[in-house]
Amino acid sequence: MANILVIDDEPGIRTVLRDIFEDESYRVYDAGDGIQGLEMLASEIIHLVVLDVWLPNIGGIDVLKKIKEEYPEIEVIIISGHANIDLAVKAVKFGAFDFLEKPLSLDKILTLARNAIAMNALKTENKQLKSTVLAEEKMIGESEPIKLIKKTINQSAGSEAKILITGDNGTGKELVARDIHRKSQRSTRAFIEVNCAAIPDTLIESELFGHEKGAFTGALSKRKGKFESADGGTLFLDEVADMSLSAQAKVLRVIQEMRFERVGSEETQKVDVRIIAATNKDIKQEIADGNFREDLYFRLNVVPIHVPTMSERKEDIPLLIEHFIEEMHKSENISASGFSPAALDAIIEYRWPGNVRELKNFVERVTIMSEEDVISVETALKFLGSNDVKPEKISNPLIDKFSKMKLTEARDEFERMLLLHKLEENEYNITRAAQSLGIYPSNLHGKIKKFDIEIKK
Ligand SMILES: Nc1ncnc2c1ncn2[C@@H]1O[C@H](COP(=O)(O)OP(=O)(O)OP(=O)(O)O)[C@@H](O)[C@H]1O
Ligand SMILES: [Mg+2]
Repeated sequence: MANILVIDDEPGIRTVLRDIFEDESYRVYDAGDGIQGLEMLASEIIHLVVLDVWLPNIGGIDVLKKIKEEYPEIEVIIISGHANIDLAVKAVKFGAFDFLEKPLSLDKILTLARNAIAMNALKTENKQLKSTVLAEEKMIGESEPIKLIKKTINQSAGSEAKILITGDNGTGKELVARDIHRKSQRSTRAFIEVNCAAIPDTLIESELFGHEKGAFTGALSKRKGKFESADGGTLFLDEVADMSLSAQAKVLRVIQEMRFERVGSEETQKVDVRIIAATNKDIKQEIADGNFREDLYFRLNVVPIHVPTMSERKEDIPLLIEHFIEEMHKSENISASGFSPAALDAIIEYRWPGNVRELKNFVERVTIMSEEDVISVETALKFLGSNDVKPEKISNPLIDKFSKMKLTEARDEFERMLLLHKLEENEYNITRAAQSLGIYPSNLHGKIKKFDIEIKK
């Protein structure tokens, strides 16, 4: 199945071409001039354009240039009268697939169309492959929950099962969704994302299903929706719990029947789309509050994947840091190779309310701003959640030990620990221990007595 747009000012040619293409079960659109044709391209999914080189308003060559500029993977077959054959030759130089002379040979046009459509499919696939390779993001982590997520992805990616991804802000839900698409049979087709929270309630249906010209105030021209764009591929409904109840009802129907109508149209569109949804809300609570349809929840939640917060998988933090630093080295001229053990402790201790995204931003910021090879705890603390960090949250074993004591008590306890340590280090030689503490031996004797330190010989 492919969609062909015929742009020709002669109604007779449009009718003939429509008939022969429809006989071959192509879906055919037509336009009487270039302006209409370009509008059509914006509102429909088109795989091939058959374009008359001699047109009123904008000429065929200009239409061709516009098509190649905006939709480089769409192929264009030029048709021309004998008188305009030089224009047709020029068109091929500008990227047309081929040209045909009138009167049209129906056999030839069908063969050409078939080849051009195959070429379009190849180009689209190639483009999609390139973008997936470029965008390939590794999912880092060896913690149990991440291992389980990777396993679930591998088990379910190849199926058509709908997947509901839940988890806090910045935990990596979108990364999971893209990974599923990449590992699915649909990987060479489109991955289309809709952020349901970012679209006003009044526009969400038109965004998802498209609309007809004049379907509502502001609908100045026809537009295709995300479901159509995702045909053959994956549709990622991000922040799905933020969708209005009326949009939820429509999405439920599409999921059940894989068919829908554009806003303001009676015509039913069929699509083949795999759906992955995500939310950072507590969806059971949203159902209880009447904000989310339970039946839609059951439909979406065939394979549930929950991505835990950063603080539930602290053992992944060092791996993630290493990965983000490596990524930074690829794109920036940074000197940092890592964090000091004390800095790492402070980072692991921090509660990461913005999860992996916050950790990534943090690593990027520190490595750009600091010139240290090994980033110190002081530098790390300066950048850690600069707008969020609660000092008592940064635990330090030393502080933990003293934090419940009064100052004099803490000071004495600290002095006693230090003296003991220095004495042991110097094998209980008073003179050397005093020297390394910077006090007189007599003074040290006094303190040993005061703190009742046992002198081992
Ligand atoms: N396990 C991981 N390994 C490597 N990078 C990760 C990992 N998890 C998340 N990231 C990175 O952290 C950032 C945030 O991830 P993502 O956008 O997938 O989160 P999200 O859960 O969709 O967030 P939100 O709820 O805000 O939409 C991205 O840059 C992503 O590449
Ligand atoms: Mg997201």
